[in-house]
Amino acid sequence: MLRKDVEFRRGFTVSQKPYRAKLDQNESPYDLPKDVKEYLLKKIVEVNWNRYPQPLTYRQVKESFAAELGVKSDRLALTFGGDQTILSAFLVAGGPQGRALIYEPTYPMFRHYALATGTPADVKVIGERYLPQAEDFKSKRYTLITFVSPNNPTGNLIPVEVIREALETGALVFVDEAYYPFSKVSVWDELSDYPNLMVGRSLSKSMLAGMRMGYVLASPRVISAVDHMNFAPYNLTHMHLLLFGEYSTIRPHLDRGADTVIGERERIFSFLESVNLTPFPSKANFVMFKLTRYRELYEFLADNGVRIRDVSSLPGLTNHLRVTVGLPHENDLFMETVEEFLKR
Ligand SMILES: Cc1ncc(COP(=O)(O)O)c(C=O)c1O
Repeated sequence: MLRKDVEFRRGFTVSQKPYRAKLDQNESPYDLPKDVKEYLLKKIVEVNWNRYPQPLTYRQVKESFAAELGVKSDRLALTFGGDQTILSAFLVAGGPQGRALIYEPTYPMFRHYALATGTPADVKVIGERYLPQAEDFKSKRYTLITFVSPNNPTGNLIPVEVIREALETGALVFVDEAYYPFSKVSVWDELSDYPNLMVGRSLSKSMLAGMRMGYVLASPRVISAVDHMNFAPYNLTHMHLLLFGEYSTIRPHLDRGADTVIGERERIFSFLESVNLTPFPSKANFVMFKLTRYRELYEFLADNGVRIRDVSSLPGLTNHLRVTVGLPHENDLFMETVEEFLKR
């Protein structure tokens, strides 16, 4: 009855142990202020929950969100989280007739969506520096080439020239910019004239992880295909549409939180460097680092209420850990606990 090409097992999980610092899921440590939430709640009460979201509302919300981003609304699709931007890329350019290129180590949903959509995929493992090369795709016939910039968990950006070369092959080139709020660098600025560029972003990392909001930037043709495959606007709830429509109210809080996170990221990086834990320069809201006794450190932190992520099982990584930037006092606790561990 069930698919034979999929090994069904328990899904993605994280530790549910009690904690004092939650630095394991690349979330923002800041929430929206209560008065802003109350203002939004009043608005959602006025909406008819018994009615489906309407295509007209979707178009209007797109107009206002696009204006905030400074793009044309026919170049924008709204999605259910950053995950749905990745799925959309596989839905519009993958499938059994397509062929995708995925670089690893990266966010595991790429491999998952290739599998879910029955897309044949070449997975190229390029190690801890995650530096794709044009030779990887130049002479091959991919329908979909994927990049993550900044990449999770390595934290680095992809050189824009590599992405340009990928675009020249004619494949749909999907660039996941889920961490754009912290890098503030986008391929969209330079390459948006290419009709085969598709950029995916998320509002999860800069604050709204619990609301599952993402968006795609692409040419009008790709956007129509994405909206078609997602049956937009029925993939979204009234709450999504309300929040996208109120982006101008929400945005200053997201931006302020992201700026604080960037400062704290540099503090964590310098600390890890000073204690020789080999941090990798990061443009995201986390820092990857490595050490031989990685598992012991991971356990020691967990026992002391500091949850970080062990990424050593990702392809191409061996003894690597990833810490998400938290509140300043959570970051202090992380650093103090690491120091304590190193003294033992
Ligand atoms: C690279 C990357 N893309 C997309 C996502 C998913 O974003 P969202 O939580 O908005 O679905 C993540 C989440 O960790 C990610 O790391």
